[in-house]
Amino acid sequence: MMMMKEDDMKPEILLIERMMPEIEAGLREVGEVIPFSTLDDLGARASHIRGIATGGVTGVPRDVMDALPALEVIAINGIGTDAVDLKEAARRGIGVTTTPGVLTDDVADLAWALLLAAKRQLVVSDSYVRAGKWGKESLPLAHKASGCALGIVGMGQVGRAIARRAAGFDMSVAYYDLRNQDLDGLRYVENLTALAAESDILVIAASGGPQSRHIVNREVMDALGPDGLLVNVARGSLVDEEALVPALREGRLGGAALDVFEREPHAPEALFSMENVVLQPHRASATVETRVKMGRLVVDNLAAHFSGQSLLTPVPVVK
Ligand code: 8YV
Repeated sequence: MMMMKEDDMKPEILLIERMMPEIEAGLREVGEVIPFSTLDDLGARASHIRGIATGGVTGVPRDVMDALPALEVIAINGIGTDAVDLKEAARRGIGVTTTPGVLTDDVADLAWALLLAAKRQLVVSDSYVRAGKWGKESLPLAHKASGCALGIVGMGQVGRAIARRAAGFDMSVAYYDLRNQDLDGLRYVENLTALAAESDILVIAASGGPQSRHIVNREVMDALGPDGLLVNVARGSLVDEEALVPALREGRLGGAALDVFEREPHAPEALFSMENVVLQPHRASATVETRVKMGRLVVDNLAAHFSGQSLLTPVPVVK
């Protein structure tokens, strides 16, 4: 039997989070795809893995990274890098890529869908019709969205796309970020509690990670207040969920519309019975159109790397 030279062998790619069938087919053209379950199941194959395809929330658990001595590249199917140890990746010379740009519109759209759903009580009203209560029971009036003061936490690509959409709803927009970005028509507020106090709606669009953990705490929720609405399409880690549940229950915070949670796929059960809450299972980028574009970027980044070219959308190296 003829022995294969190492160069002729397809690179082994660990698939940590499943993707659309057509994207996984694309991955199989780039390398030999090995679906991940546990390190034990991976066994000796671990030493051959050269690439990873994963999701933004799942990322690469540190014990998995440590078990892969030949790892060269991590392609994240998303924009969040908080679940990958970027310092360790840089130390080992492992390239990391994300999918910037292609999911911006979808995430901003979902922020607006959540905002409008919560303000206009879409979920409660939908259940009212389906339950045959229309014409038999009264339904409380909802709240107006247009004209509200909108506060945005994080003014990256997603924050800006959310802000652009506000023009159609006659909303004033102010934002909190690590720095003032001197943006036309968008007022910078350097204190998050102060931003919450002046906002009717606070939308979180900032990156997750230790630097932003629980920045939306009890003080911020109380500042947003009994008529305020909190919307989160970023990461659950930014919100102190233990403070959120009593704030909503006690009416210190008016409402919440959440796509992301601290311990996904878990959402606090206490929220399930609250009518002032709208919940989504982390779906901001989950449209067919966008997931195709994201997945292609994952495949193209891996293909570029394994054919000796530069990564298309690398994450800056963290020192
Ligand atoms: C995806 C995300 O849902 O972009 C991110 O960081 O969290 C989302 O777009 C996720 O990456 C898919 O697993």
